[in-house]
Amino acid sequence: MTSATPVSHVLDRVLVLEMVRVTEAAAISASKLIGRGDEKAADAAAVEAMRAALNELAMDGTVVIGEGERDEAPMLYIGEKVGSAIGSGPKIDIALDPLEGTTITAKAGPNALAVLAVAEEGNLLNAPDVYMDKLAVGPGYAEGIIDLAKSPTENVKAVAAAKGVAPHEIIVCVLDRPRHADLIAELRGLGCGVVLIGDGDVAGVIAVTNPDTTIDLYMGQGGAPEGVLAAAALRCVGGQFNGRLVFRNEDERARARKWGIEDLNRIYTRDELAKGDCIFAATGVTDGSLLKGVKRLRDGLITTQSVVMRASSGTVRWVSGEHRNKR
Ligand code: FBP
Repeated sequence: MTSATPVSHVLDRVLVLEMVRVTEAAAISASKLIGRGDEKAADAAAVEAMRAALNELAMDGTVVIGEGERDEAPMLYIGEKVGSAIGSGPKIDIALDPLEGTTITAKAGPNALAVLAVAEEGNLLNAPDVYMDKLAVGPGYAEGIIDLAKSPTENVKAVAAAKGVAPHEIIVCVLDRPRHADLIAELRGLGCGVVLIGDGDVAGVIAVTNPDTTIDLYMGQGGAPEGVLAAAALRCVGGQFNGRLVFRNEDERARARKWGIEDLNRIYTRDELAKGDCIFAATGVTDGSLLKGVKRLRDGLITTQSVVMRASSGTVRWVSGEHRNKR
């Protein structure tokens, strides 16, 4: 595989299944720390394993969303080169979160994932590690049915009308945070069902695409990197996403400008956050609405469940893994 090989071919034939190896490695490593009360150790285990797995892939990869900036993250920092063919292989941008849900893992709660998205160079928004206002709806609605510029009430009413139900029948997933008190009150005022999650809004956003969850909408503020990862997933399985970066101080605004973001109030659609062809992969660390978590069974047997999806083809592959000797 050389830089002359079309990147689209690399994404299709090579990276799709290789991505699962990478998220599996991170999930298996983090799973040793499930319920052990140590968020940092769980994150470090996932980061180290994901980095080692990425470095085995024949690509010229660049981390565009990672563990932080170079001075604050020793591994998988933004800008870090990964892959075994740096300088010669296909140029791939990578957004990653080796452990999405560090607190969940430490407390053995639901929905912790090892997750990443890859795309051709330049196709993933280099989102700084700030908050993002998020709004998502599942597939099957007219383009533009949701709009972050409108109020939660307007969005609920628009989706309810399109679905042919009353607003009080709409179910909305929201991160359980004090900053969402007004949002939750507004939704409850409409009679909506509000599914409060403690952490893990990548899984929260993806839940709108899964009818089994009965969740119609995702609303509220979470991490911007997680927003780009969720948008990449929705590119593959359908559904709409709006995101707007939220800045709490001048330092955060300066960081955004450093990554080339000029319009700080812009509302990004799904396809502006993750453009072109992209691949999204995730492995469950703990059981959740998207995936089963890692199970450490007898005699060294470890089971995993992963999903890998590709935007251009819309292919979604569910991968069950049985691993031995990975202690
Ligand atoms: P971590 O894995 O980094 O702990 O993130 C978990 C998470 O819940 C994300 O899913 C979410 O986007 C973000 O934290 C919300 O941030 P905060 O906990 O500051 O509200």
